[in-house]
Amino acid sequence: MSLERTFSIIKPDAVAAGQAGEILAMIQQAGFRMLGLRMTRLSEAQAQAFYAVHRERPFFAGLVKFMTEGPIIVMALEREDAVRKLREVMGATNPANAAEGTVRKRFAANIERNCIHGSDAPETAEVELRFFFSTAELI
Ligand code: RTP
Ligand code: MG
Repeated sequence: MSLERTFSIIKPDAVAAGQAGEILAMIQQAGFRMLGLRMTRLSEAQAQAFYAVHRERPFFAGLVKFMTEGPIIVMALEREDAVRKLREVMGATNPANAAEGTVRKRFAANIERNCIHGSDAPETAEVELRFFFSTAELI
């Protein structure tokens, strides 16, 4: 199988709680190579654009508020089967349903404040990588 790229965010709850280092270690132990990594903070417009697919959902306003409340860490990651594997490392959206040993099981407070984002398909990953990283940054 060939290498694939995915995109991930360590969300504001985990950065504020000092959990970023442990989450990065879990990702690296799962065999991902870091192609790009940066700390940033989303504006309201950026958070709305990034999660535009959810704009009709009842949790959208809360999600935008949460994602803009503090710094985040954005990452470009590479591995075989990267999209699927990262979602395995993350665990289920609702930490109550997340498997033992996953990031969300270990660190997430609830279905909204759930520590980490990962792209849900290779096509989404390319769009999300482009949102945060230029071509030159990922070579
Ligand atoms: P993500 O996009 O952040 O990787 O998470 P996901 O695929 O596991 O979940 P998704 O359905 O795409 O939802 C995006 C994020 O919205 C928040 N959320 N809140 N209050 C709620 O019911 C609810 N549902 C989703 C979470 O932060 C979720 O990760
Ligand atoms: Mg999602």
